[in-house]
Formats: sequence, structure tokens, C-alpha cells
Amino acid sequence: MVRSWMLAATGVLGATAVLAQDAPQEYAVGQKEYLTACAACHGEEADGNGEIAVMFKEPVPDLTGIAMRNDGVFPLLDVIHAIDGRAMIRGHGNPMPVFGNRFRADADGGNALFGAEAISRGRVLELALYIQSIQK
Ligand code: HEC
Repeated sequence: MVRSWMLAATGVLGATAVLAQDAPQEYAVGQKEYLTACAACHGEEADGNGEIAVMFKEPVPDLTGIAMRNDGVFPLLDVIHAIDGRAMIRGHGNPMPVFGNRFRADADGGNALFGAEAISRGRVLELALYIQSIQK
């Protein structure tokens, strides 16, 4: 009996350890979006080694090195534009969706256009802030 209780406790501790690797709470929404929409290419650790990264002729960028590649400054607005599609990143627009449009379409069920726009911008911002939080 004691043994099975100990095993159960170990299981709980194991689960806690996994949770400890999660992003701090203020970035949890962005991390969830990231794992759903971006990790396949950019990798779960955002290091550019996603499962389908090999399909691209050009390397998929390491998103944890954006600030390092930009003299230590994280270009928040450029990253927002890269995600929402205004920067027209080839890897995102063809064959990949432009995320701003996709998020607007997701939000459009019954919302006024402004509501969908606001929801889409919120999701893009959460993603950009999450990426900012994981810079090396
Ligand atoms: C289908 C693969 C794919 C998916 C999915 C994808 N990306 Fe990308 N991403 C790329 C490729 C390829 C590039 C670089 C190509 C280029 O510069 O033209 C890139 C570039 C970027 C850049 C510019 C990085 C830099 O250093 O200039 C950012 C930021 C970015 N992606 C964020 C995201 C985010 C956030 C998501 C999820 C919402 C996402 N990407 C989803 C393939 C992908």
C-alpha cells in the first residue's frame, strides 16, 4: 500500500516538474497559441527545428535569437507585422496562411468586424509578447 501511494506521489511530482517548464502565467496564452500555430515549423523550443522545417528551402529562423540578431533590441512591431502578415514573410504566406487573416476569420462568427479585428490583434500581440519573453 505504502508503495503505491509513493508511486502516485512521484507521479504528481513528475507532473509538477513538467508544469514548471511552462511559460510564466502572463505569457501562457501566447505560449498556447505558439504551440498550436507555430511550433510545427519554428519548433517547440522556438529554435527553428520544427517537425516540418525540413520542407523549406531556406532555414526556418530561430525565434529565440531575434533580439540577438538585432543588436540586442527586440523589434516588437516588426514581429507583430511578421505574424499578422503585413511583413509578407514568404514562409507564412505561401503555402502558409497569413495569421492575421486566419485569426480574424476564426473570430468572425457573429462578431462585428471590429470585434474580429480586436480579437485577432490580441492574439497576435500575445504571440509577440511570448516570443519576446523567450529571447536568449
Ligand atoms: C509553415 C511554417 C511556418 C509556420 C507555421 C510559422 N512560420 Fe514563422 N517563419 C517561417 C519561415 C520559413 C520564416 C522565414 C522565411 C522568410 O524570411 O521568408 C519565418 C519567419 C518568421 C519570423 C521572422 C523572424 C526573423 O528573424 O526575421 C517570425 C517573427 C515568425 N516567423 C513568427 C511566427 C509565428 C509567431 C508563427 C505562429 C503564429 C509562425 N511564425 C508560424 C515558417 C513558419
